[in-house]
Amino acid sequence: MKFTLNVDHVAFLRNARAETQPDPVTYALMAEQFGVDGIVVHLREDRRHITERDVRLLREMISTKLNFEMAADQDIIDIALDIQPELATLVPEKREELTTEGGLNVLDNLEHLKETIEKLHEDDIAVSLFVEPDVNSIDASAEIEADFIEIHTGTFANAETDEEMLEELERIRVAAKHANKLELGVNAGHGLNYQNIKDFRVITDIDEISIGQAIVARSVFVGLEKAIREMSDLIRGY
Ligand code: PXP
Repeated sequence: MKFTLNVDHVAFLRNARAETQPDPVTYALMAEQFGVDGIVVHLREDRRHITERDVRLLREMISTKLNFEMAADQDIIDIALDIQPELATLVPEKREELTTEGGLNVLDNLEHLKETIEKLHEDDIAVSLFVEPDVNSIDASAEIEADFIEIHTGTFANAETDEEMLEELERIRVAAKHANKLELGVNAGHGLNYQNIKDFRVITDIDEISIGQAIVARSVFVGLEKAIREMSDLIRGY
């Protein structure tokens, strides 16, 4: 299971004071030195955290992979075609939400998502769809020729009882296995942290997880290097 770092939260802190620090590009480059396998950014329509400047600099500077989270809108598709990320992850986007609140409704947006995937594929950009751990959404993702799915782990992360958590973990396990059978790559993310990763890591069939908030939160106390190395060890089961 590879560990990719979402750097949106650092851009959010920078923008809170309309200053230049903390800089998400520096953060990403340091994180690469400490062993993360890829960098994830979400360029939102309202540019509330990551800006085009950040994405373009990251594209130039990072030495791992860039996973570009984006809405399936033409202006963002144009930016993706220009910057050529290794992976474009299509996510639902609502202006008023604090963070991405759930997976895509693939079944109700089949045609639009299919067209978006085709446009990105024409430029050889692999595409992932952020979905709930739901077999029908996964079948639909395969049907419109997505390369990956990213399973939304928010319900697992927010479970209030062990029973709820184990139930959701089982849904994720079944969904990941199903996606693998359909030859989809499987990523996962949202709300993963230093506690719940110990339960989550038992799931095989996951290529990459993406973590943002928990790493920023921990690095405030222990520093970025320790925060990343501790998470890497937990993912590997040490
Ligand atoms: N995956 C997606 C699609 C997301 O929108 C986010 C949130 O930015 C993450 C993963 C990472 O979530 P978190 O910040 O809770 O680790």
